[in-house]
Amino acid sequence: MAFGKNATRVLFVLMVMCATSTAKLPVAKEGAAPAPAPEAGASEASGGRGIFDITNVGATSDGKTDCSKELQEAWKSACGAAGQATVLIPKGEFLAGPLNFSGPCKGDVTIHIDGTLLGTNDLPKYNGGSWINILKVNNLVITGSGTIDGQGANVYTKDPAEAKAFPNSLVLDFVKNGTISGITLLNSKFFHMNIYMSEDVKIENLTITAPGDSPNTDGIHIGDSNNINVTDTTIGTGDDCISIGGGSSHIIVTGVTCGPGQGISVGCLGRYKDEKDVSDVTVKDCVLRSSTNGVRVKTYEDAVKSITASKLTFENIKMEDVANPIIIDQNYCPEKVCTAKSKSAVTVKDVIFRNITGTSSTPAAVSLLCSDKQPCSGVELIDVNVEYSGKNNKTIGVCNNAKGTAKDTLQALACLA
Ligand SMILES: *[C@@H]1O[C@H](CO)[C@@H](O)[C@H](O)[C@H]1NC(C)=O
Ligand SMILES: *[C@@H]1O[C@H](CO)[C@@H](O)[C@H](O)[C@H]1NC(C)=O
Ligand SMILES: *[C@@H]1O[C@H](CO)[C@@H](O)[C@H](O)[C@H]1NC(C)=O
Ligand SMILES: *[C@@H]1O[C@H](CO)[C@@H](O)[C@H](O)[C@H]1NC(C)=O
Ligand SMILES: *[C@@H]1O[C@H](CO)[C@@H](O)[C@H](O)[C@H]1NC(C)=O
Ligand SMILES: *[C@@H]1O[C@H](CO)[C@@H](O)[C@H](O)[C@H]1NC(C)=O
Repeated sequence: MAFGKNATRVLFVLMVMCATSTAKLPVAKEGAAPAPAPEAGASEASGGRGIFDITNVGATSDGKTDCSKELQEAWKSACGAAGQATVLIPKGEFLAGPLNFSGPCKGDVTIHIDGTLLGTNDLPKYNGGSWINILKVNNLVITGSGTIDGQGANVYTKDPAEAKAFPNSLVLDFVKNGTISGITLLNSKFFHMNIYMSEDVKIENLTITAPGDSPNTDGIHIGDSNNINVTDTTIGTGDDCISIGGGSSHIIVTGVTCGPGQGISVGCLGRYKDEKDVSDVTVKDCVLRSSTNGVRVKTYEDAVKSITASKLTFENIKMEDVANPIIIDQNYCPEKVCTAKSKSAVTVKDVIFRNITGTSSTPAAVSLLCSDKQPCSGVELIDVNVEYSGKNNKTIGVCNNAKGTAKDTLQALACLA
């Protein structure tokens, strides 16, 4: 408790400092650059080509002046325009608080980012929500060579209670038919990307980076979404590179390099009452580098609802010094509050690990830790050859209650019943 209190106090001081250092800016800005009327700004910015440049409506690229209002205004114009419209964030640094980019839009909107968006460190402004919120938008494109910088380094804390309230950087909720490409997501305060209740979204050629010890900085979290592809993306963070939560189906992850981080994960599952099944997940042609996990399925030991995770395929994966290259953990309970008496369980079945090679930094390259209540079934280990990279021990598979078959797999790893 004493630590908790201290942490709270430290964070409080930090917030006060941030609030003080940014609170003046909007006032200074209002005096310096009165925003033009939306219509005038919009048509001027668009030049008739549907391009809404935030600097044409008064956004200042000094990285210190809050540009939330100008970003919001450019969004409103673009979203209200017929045909193809683009919100342009040109080169330069633009500070912003929480943004509400809601649809439905009249036409198709592209957010083109060439500059850097900086997330304000004035935490109360987020009011417990996320930073860039894209809601109910169809046919969305986010592209460019720019950066979404959450500026998390200024707020990271080891205190889980505090950290939970931090904002995700980029949120897609109820988005249908989207493409996110080219951009960099940097040092988010919480998840870099959170995709929820969305469909037909393609994520490609992104770079997602945060320190290996930054808490909860998942690269991309996908939940309750269908047909989401993540391709050719490099992710190194302090938490899961990609995590796939309940209600997700037809998720394809290819060409992802992950590390540092906690790997590519299905789960955690079983935490929420309204959670739905996960199925048809393919993770293919990926490299895991010095991550704590490689490919993982994790479900709560005392799941609150019985759901199923099935048809999961992990193939052509190279492990480089990964601590737990292949892991199913049905006894996940990070807060150690699980009651083993729980009647619910997450069923894990039809999981294929094919052509997985490289090295493990611990002897247990394969850990299939399933529950006696709900054994894993239909697990296949095909062409799995991961060697221990350390000394004085050798690679080993550890299985509990895991049923399935092994083929062309190192004998020591083929622990299935
Ligand atoms: C976001 O904008 C939409 C549409 O303009 C509005 O309906 C909604 O209330 C806004 N949400 C917040 C949290 O401001
Ligand atoms: C998906 O969105 C893109 C980009 O806005 C658009 O060009 C395309 O026509 C959309 N596809 C469908 C099926 O609506
Ligand atoms: C990936 O994105 C960068 C911009 O960040 C761009 O320069 C490059 O051409 C893109 N690569 C591909 C294959 O699209
Ligand atoms: C994802 O990839 C699969 C297989 O290539 C393809 O059928 C599907 O249309 C893709 N989905 C999106 C949203 O790009
Ligand atoms: C196995 O995976 C590696 C990538 O890790 C790939 O280069 C190789 O072609 C795959 N082998 C087969 C038979 O698909
Ligand atoms: C080798 O690794 C296994 C599995 O982690 C462990 O139980 C065992 O103690 C290790 N042996 C030595 C000699 O370190």
